[in-house]
Amino acid sequence: MSYARYKLHYIFALISVLWCGDVIRAESSVASAHPAATFAGKEILDAGGNAFDAAIAVAAALAVVEPYSSGIGGGGFFLLHTQKDGTNLFVDAREEAPSKATADMYLDSSGDFIRERSLNGPLAAAIPGLPAGLVYLSENFANLTLHENLAPAIRLAREGFLTGDRYEKMAGYRVAALRLNKDAANIFLDEGNVPKAGFRVIQEDLAETLESIAVSNGESFYGGDLARRMVNSIVSDGGIWRIEDLKNYEVKIRQPLVSFYHDVKIISSPPPSSGGVALIEALNILERYDLKKYERDTYIHLVVEAMRRAYRDRADYLGDPDFVKVPVKELSSKAHADLLASSISDTKATPSSSLPQIGSRQKGSDTTHFSIVDSLGNRVAATLSINIPFGAAMTAVGTGVLLNNEMDDFSAKPFTPNTYGLVGANANSIAPGKRPLSSMTPTFLEGSDRIAIMGTPGGSRIISMVLISALDFIMGATPAEMVSSKRFHHQYLPDQVYFEKDGLTLFEKEALSKKGHKLKESSRNYGNMQVIVIDKVDGSVDAASDPRGEGSSVVW
Ligand code: GLY
Repeated sequence: MSYARYKLHYIFALISVLWCGDVIRAESSVASAHPAATFAGKEILDAGGNAFDAAIAVAAALAVVEPYSSGIGGGGFFLLHTQKDGTNLFVDAREEAPSKATADMYLDSSGDFIRERSLNGPLAAAIPGLPAGLVYLSENFANLTLHENLAPAIRLAREGFLTGDRYEKMAGYRVAALRLNKDAANIFLDEGNVPKAGFRVIQEDLAETLESIAVSNGESFYGGDLARRMVNSIVSDGGIWRIEDLKNYEVKIRQPLVSFYHDVKIISSPPPSSGGVALIEALNILERYDLKKYERDTYIHLVVEAMRRAYRDRADYLGDPDFVKVPVKELSSKAHADLLASSISDTKATPSSSLPQIGSRQKGSDTTHFSIVDSLGNRVAATLSINIPFGAAMTAVGTGVLLNNEMDDFSAKPFTPNTYGLVGANANSIAPGKRPLSSMTPTFLEGSDRIAIMGTPGGSRIISMVLISALDFIMGATPAEMVSSKRFHHQYLPDQVYFEKDGLTLFEKEALSKKGHKLKESSRNYGNMQVIVIDKVDGSVDAASDPRGEGSSVVW
């Protein structure tokens, strides 16, 4: 550090102590999974919007340009920090089960789980929460109007956007399901085929829908003309939505979970996300180790053992807290971590089968995340989803609303592994109006000198990715290092350590195998993390977008 910067640190530190003891801000930043969405956020901040205005613009733009990841027909979680009073808030805009949903709706007459029904088409779709989330942000936090904040997304939908390699990959994965729905195929495919990079996707109907949401402040979507058209389309295709389900939908405002890893404050997602609880459990376990002193293979082993135990508890206890009692306080206590850590050996893997047996489950695959800070220090970490790429692969005819398949995040049948091999039992069973358990984990980390705003998509692996990068941050990593970190994952069952392509060295693989871990290399990389780090002393900002995705970050 130069002497001038050293002196500046002290001057800023002194001012920040005198001035309410918190960060002095100057720079703004947006990091999202698509350059057009990042630009939409910058446009709104430059026009006088704050971080919450920008969050509306970025979320809506992502709904247009990343239709495989999130959308108006989906939901998500927004973790907010308002600088003026230092409060943190969690906006739960998660989808919820329609009123006609039943615990056995995806089972056939022999009681067998028919996965197709929970993944594709009208029965897979839960009641969307994202439009209500945007309206909530607009009514409670925004400087600009909803119409101004939705304008970039409306423009992108109307004028179209050019697809890239990621679109091609995601559409390739879901092309068979998309072909089954004429309206969706017309919008998202090129004459029934996967569009090559450079194809222009125009979404006139979605532009009209966004206009209508802007003009009616969401009312058309939750009970008006749009609601009627969506319900008619879904019911005529065999679905179970009712207008009342949309009328009754509301966002839930929850208190974020707060914990400490030594002196680093963790502010993260409460149920119906499983992310905050599992993240805090794992960090509480790992706090017992001086992680810096271990070789990387033992470090990975210890983190895996923490993941194993946190995911076990997730499967056993987590669900929608408005329907089941989730022992959040007990699970996130240091005493519980003592108990969990007591069975960890430095040298030997614990077979998952030797841990107490569970009862619950969950999943997910695509999804998106963005992070924002404005020049005042307001922050947003938002993770949004329609579940697997292109959700239910069905649009409500004439509305451009691509439906989620978030119903598949419920436990459709106790102890039956889902697409990702996750198991579960009753806490996450289907019930009318219940929200499916999620892994989405938008998180803030507040250290003595730096603050991180972070999150990622990635289904069940979201939590392990956030854990790995949180540990990186705690050990001093930059945003670029945090998003680039090699990823490994253990989710209790199946009992194996997954790692991304080339994620472990030969030495690490041998060392972990020797400790008794079963290893499984993924055929590709995974995750799409977006991180902003604020220097608490001088207010400077650094940001990074995951090199595995096509996103971008700006600081200005
Ligand atoms: N649909 C992904 C998740 O919420 O975990």
